[in-house]
Amino acid sequence: LAMLALWGALGYLLGSIPFGMLLAKAMGLGNLRSIGSGNIGATNVLRTGNKKAAALTLLLDGGKGAAAVLLARAFASEDAAQLAGLMAFLGHCFPVWLGFKGGKGVATFLGLLLALAWPVGLAACATWLVSALLLRISSFAALMAAAMSTIWMVLFGHGQMLALGAALTLLIFWTHRANITRLRAGTEPKIGKK
Ligand code: G3P
Repeated sequence: LAMLALWGALGYLLGSIPFGMLLAKAMGLGNLRSIGSGNIGATNVLRTGNKKAAALTLLLDGGKGAAAVLLARAFASEDAAQLAGLMAFLGHCFPVWLGFKGGKGVATFLGLLLALAWPVGLAACATWLVSALLLRISSFAALMAAAMSTIWMVLFGHGQMLALGAALTLLIFWTHRANITRLRAGTEPKIGKK
């Protein structure tokens, strides 16, 4: 149990590094809180107009989710890997350093899925991409990727991830509640637009 708690804490710490905010600051792109949606994720970094910074944010926010899973799996167990992934997600969305006001968890979600079961992760990335190509709205693509992820888990024979998948899906709908309101009102901006 102490082992699980340790990997949960490490996952949270990794997840709580707000790469988007740090990169935007380091690259002189301004304070993400006063840009676009005010979110600290890659979609909002893209609204600064800097594609490189946005791609790097996506990679690092995804990478920390994957790293949490892979480290816990290598040094502990599959249960620890799932917990570390969940905690990395929670760390990103509710980081103690930012007064628990963090991001929406999409990149971290995709990264941890890829590390836990790559076919499920790839299918989730593909779902995001196809949805994004359809409507060109990042939040819509995220909600589709989250909602479909449990279906991919069943189809690819990863039922042991279902509880985690359901929890992450609910959390992603929760972190996107303002986006959902805008989607319903038809005011959600397209990718790359302010
Ligand atoms: O990854 C977050 C994305 O789904 C929505 O971001 O900035 O449009 O609220 P944003």
